[in-house]
Amino acid sequence: MDVPKGFVKNGDAIDWWLPIQALFVPSIILAWRLDFPPSLYLAAFVLLWLVFRSNLRDRVPFYLTNRGTWLAVSEILPRHGAFKFVDLGCGWGGGLAVLAKQCKSGEFLGVESAPLPFLLGWLSFRRDANCRIRFGDFWNEDLGCYDVVYAFLSPAPMPRLWRKARNEMKPGSLFISNTFGVPDLPPNETLTLQDVRAAKLLVWRM
Ligand SMILES: C[S@@+](CC[C@H](N)C(=O)[O-])C[C@H]1O[C@@H](n2cnc3c(N)ncnc32)[C@H](O)[C@@H]1O
Repeated sequence: MDVPKGFVKNGDAIDWWLPIQALFVPSIILAWRLDFPPSLYLAAFVLLWLVFRSNLRDRVPFYLTNRGTWLAVSEILPRHGAFKFVDLGCGWGGGLAVLAKQCKSGEFLGVESAPLPFLLGWLSFRRDANCRIRFGDFWNEDLGCYDVVYAFLSPAPMPRLWRKARNEMKPGSLFISNTFGVPDLPPNETLTLQDVRAAKLLVWRM
């Protein structure tokens, strides 16, 4: 499987975060020269923690599935009858809103552990009938309740998440991972999107 930009394969160099790292030292020097008040650093730290809290334990950063990919996900969803969908680590749930619009017969839930994205999602969904977002840890979610489980995480949690999915998910249900595979377990289907990232949807039928 292709490795997305920013991740290492067999020890290869990483491209996009080298320039980011190169900016660290000049930024420190600039900030020191500008003599910002310490409270500004504290505020920046708190803001980052509110958004990126989950990086610390699960090594899953905050970035979002793009709209084109959500539309491709909507094509995979059941065409007829009621079904339940969960986005594990849903950010502010923008994707759930796209899917809920496309598939009226579905019930869409997102679980998010970062406080700020959760709050934004909760505020925007509180009046929606078929879309909900819950604050919490997706490791505590019973995946047996869902017909479709979607994850866009990072390589780090995938082996553990697959073990959880295999133990809990119902026969015939779908496990969809955006980009990140399960070691040594090819998906039943791979959809490659024609976008700049050439994002891949990996689909396993349980
Ligand atoms: C790469 S983002 C994907 C967001 C969204 N699913 C999408 O595709 O647009 C991963 C999200 O998972 C959340 N996350 C990571 N570990 C989590 C956990 N154990 N429980 C709940 N959310 C988690 C992160 O805070 C982040 O918002």
